[in-house]
Amino acid sequence: MRNRMIAGNWKMNKTYVEGVELAQGLADQLADGTGDVDVVVCPPTVDLKGVSEVIEQSEAPFALGAQNVYFEESGAFTGETAPNMLEAVGATYCIIGHSERRGYFGETDEDINKKAKVLMAHGIVPISCCGEPLEVREAGTHVDFVVNQIKADTEGLEISDPSKYVVAYEPIWAIGTGKTATADDAQEVCGAIRKTLSEVFGQQTADGIRVLYGGSAKPENVAGFLEKEDVDGALVGGASLKADSFSAMVKAAM
Ligand code: G3P
Repeated sequence: MRNRMIAGNWKMNKTYVEGVELAQGLADQLADGTGDVDVVVCPPTVDLKGVSEVIEQSEAPFALGAQNVYFEESGAFTGETAPNMLEAVGATYCIIGHSERRGYFGETDEDINKKAKVLMAHGIVPISCCGEPLEVREAGTHVDFVVNQIKADTEGLEISDPSKYVVAYEPIWAIGTGKTATADDAQEVCGAIRKTLSEVFGQQTADGIRVLYGGSAKPENVAGFLEKEDVDGALVGGASLKADSFSAMVKAAM
């Protein structure tokens, strides 16, 4: 089947020193291990090396992820980060297609599909985000909206090991708002995502792909999501910025 995953998206928070301190605090709190739960922390790009060193020196039971990547190997792309650079700093996961990048920076499903391909070519696991805006949810077309994202984001992908591709369903109206989707809302869409993945990759592969929920996930509500058949974990924003709350979510998943 598939291991649960708790991933922390620090977003644009924590300076280099603050990032090292948070990573060390998390390493201390998870020193007894995380069982079968895969844990990933995704700091800002400038913090990657520092957090990577904490993971290595503390033998911390969590992996390093990035929050974005560009889909070229090198060149005149000011401000961007190439996949080989993430590989060199020890990132084994990378968030792509976050709604904030789609919304603020105009990223398209085509961009996200290209990013998934270059990441997988470098052995880095994409955490590919999807999710609907409030007006789509209110119109009741949210399942079709997300299914269309999944189909476009996975176009032409070849997945031999389903643990090497992760999907995160993040309803935009629940991100950073304190307004979470219900566990049933999450199951409805995560179930549709898994069905779509089975149509694209076959049932066996779809059954091995982690589908996470994100959007105001916290220690107080994560257990409810994890009870759902097609919800395999959480992609956590605000609650990942404190070692106590993030480690509590990991322990709730164990
Ligand atoms: O990528 C996770 C993020 O979008 C969720 O943010 O603060 O609602 O947990 P938050």
